[in-house]
Amino acid sequence: MTSSHDQPVLVAGTDEPNPYLLGVYAPVTTEIDSGDLRVIGRIPRDLNGVYLRNGPNPRHRPDGRYHWFDGDGMVHAVHLENGRARYRNRWIRTKAFEAESEAGRALWRGVMESPKGNPFGNHHGLGLKDAANTDVIFHRGKVLTTWYLCGSPYALDPLSLETVGAEDFLGTLVGDMMAHPKVDERTGELFWFDYGPTPPYLRYGVVSADGRVVHTTDVTLPGPRLPHDMAITDNHAVLMDLPLVQDPEAARHGRHKIVFDRSLPARFGVLPRYGTGDQVRWFEASPCYIYHVVNSWEAGEEIVLDVCRVNRPQPRADAHTPLAKMLSYLRLDAQLHRYRFNLRTGAVSESPMDDANTEFPSVDSRKVGRLSRYAYNVRISPESTLKFDGLVRYDNATGVKAEHSFGPGRWGSEAPFAPRDGATVEGDGYLVTFVQDEREGLSELDIFDAGDLAAGPVARVLLPQRVPLGFHATWVRADQLGLD
Ligand SMILES: [Fe+2]
Repeated sequence: MTSSHDQPVLVAGTDEPNPYLLGVYAPVTTEIDSGDLRVIGRIPRDLNGVYLRNGPNPRHRPDGRYHWFDGDGMVHAVHLENGRARYRNRWIRTKAFEAESEAGRALWRGVMESPKGNPFGNHHGLGLKDAANTDVIFHRGKVLTTWYLCGSPYALDPLSLETVGAEDFLGTLVGDMMAHPKVDERTGELFWFDYGPTPPYLRYGVVSADGRVVHTTDVTLPGPRLPHDMAITDNHAVLMDLPLVQDPEAARHGRHKIVFDRSLPARFGVLPRYGTGDQVRWFEASPCYIYHVVNSWEAGEEIVLDVCRVNRPQPRADAHTPLAKMLSYLRLDAQLHRYRFNLRTGAVSESPMDDANTEFPSVDSRKVGRLSRYAYNVRISPESTLKFDGLVRYDNATGVKAEHSFGPGRWGSEAPFAPRDGATVEGDGYLVTFVQDEREGLSELDIFDAGDLAAGPVARVLLPQRVPLGFHATWVRADQLGLD
């Protein structure tokens, strides 16, 4: 398959090319299967499963301004089996991707342009292209890719990466699903929400272990919001109402502008897993934005919630040019932060856990919703575009932080925890991530001993093509694939 990006796409109002279409972000144009991969070091024989990473990879030259969030979702995957590795990448065949493939050009304009004239949008009538490019998770034998503004979850085969289609859970999903639904691997349930620009603004639901939506409820917010993630515990779900809101002045003039309203609190809504909107208990904390939850669990009468907290989700005051503004909006400056919500007294406490800028957190997927000892984040580099320059392991029990730096010009991806086959102790396993070498224009899959990041990768699997920097990743164990 080919792509056509002949001339650079400029940032509007400038003659500067959009950096999110160049270099480490430049889309790839080929879909590859390759089992003959060179390895530096040795792939552990007790690490079996698939690493999958989603991200934007525009197939056609953008019509109008391009934002990194616009690109067509592409999944890159490496399957590890008995010490051998196989690489594969595939675009996600969304309805919009198929329509544009048929036309041979972009039919949708992106988030920085008016959606007027776009062929269709999500169920909220936003008119934007559901690119399925944001998250990637595993549930009931399928990989589900999802989009940050809510759309159809697209199901993929975890090994062939073939798009099965828009997942409607046997016809039971009405409307959309956000990125970052949560799977409880103990019960097999999947917890999700859906948000949009019109009242009640938020909807919460549960997919049962047999793959049907068995619960939905409306949750009324004070206005339209942009929640990105949620949490679960053994008995509860936690939803967020954060003060990143539509600018009312701009809205009056028919424009869409998001502003951070520091006069509003950050609100956390706790409800029973199968609770209704009127059962949500709201806990208020200092204003912030949160992209990603690390984990949440119950501790006596309290809910503990660890997140990566963005204190100031605003463009920097010194960002005056169109390029500086765009880059600054995509800057991510978040710190590990803990909330405690007391279900008996209603009290809230919050405390910073680290001052380093780390994000894209993961925990052992079997620990989601339960006390987890370790969190694995990537470190955000101070560069002007979003790049991950290292890995961090946080230890809840000792407070000790372990780190690995990828090195000059080397940038990572989200690095999920991949347990050693048969491991019974939390943390016994590996971290797996793509690393792109900017100087060489090459990518590799790096495998780390999760207990010894400082030692560097135990194996570097050299990939047959560059993997552009992207968004979320997941690890699917061989036992989940049914290969054991
Ligand atoms: Fe995300």
